[in-house]
Amino acid sequence: MTTPLPCAAQTAPQDGPPIPPNAARLPQTKQLDALLTIIRDESTSRSDFIFYSDRIIRLLVEEGLNHLPTLEKTVNTPTGLPYTGVSFQGRICGVSILRAGEAMESGLRECCRSVRIGKILIQRDEETSQPKLFYAKLPEDIADRWVLLLDPMLATGGSALQAIEVLIKHGVSPQRILFLNLVASPEGLDNVWRKFPDVRVISAWVDEGLDERNYIVPGLGDFGNRYWSE
Ligand code: URA
Repeated sequence: MTTPLPCAAQTAPQDGPPIPPNAARLPQTKQLDALLTIIRDESTSRSDFIFYSDRIIRLLVEEGLNHLPTLEKTVNTPTGLPYTGVSFQGRICGVSILRAGEAMESGLRECCRSVRIGKILIQRDEETSQPKLFYAKLPEDIADRWVLLLDPMLATGGSALQAIEVLIKHGVSPQRILFLNLVASPEGLDNVWRKFPDVRVISAWVDEGLDERNYIVPGLGDFGNRYWSE
């Protein structure tokens, strides 16, 4: 077996299950796998869980920004020469699905200063057992923005589908919704794809599936509890 050169970027051993055409994974590097291994570990402390989750969230936000349209732009550099590059076209906002999605807000703010952020609360209706919208506070001009929808875990997709419906009712075009999550299940990706094929989904990793409680496996447990509970 050959040993890779120390400077060669290493990809993780396998690329995971197949994903639908509207979905993308972050580059499956050893670096990303190492970060995920830390947050998957049940013995990881809360402060490490937050620190390493935040690192993955930054990678996800940067990848999400890659999907935004750009316009050619020329600037003058301090060397006296012009440089023709690009600038982002269009405005964005974040929308977090409470409560776990709030964990992704600071990563978004670190990449996009003074970004507007809305919130959606969806909970299971006791009577019907279906996800139900309890609260939505969104930027009034959201229909004119690209929306980065934030929820760390895409399990069945029930909350995400509801949240996407709310955004569309507020005038957001599905093509302008980028749903960012850390770990997705194949079932959740498939459910989003079948209902909203134009919504782009960006996941750090796609796991094997769901258990009988609809937790992602192998997963990392309850993200919100691990991030927010002392
Ligand atoms: N939400 C979580 O926090 N974890 C899962 O595995 C599924 C949904």
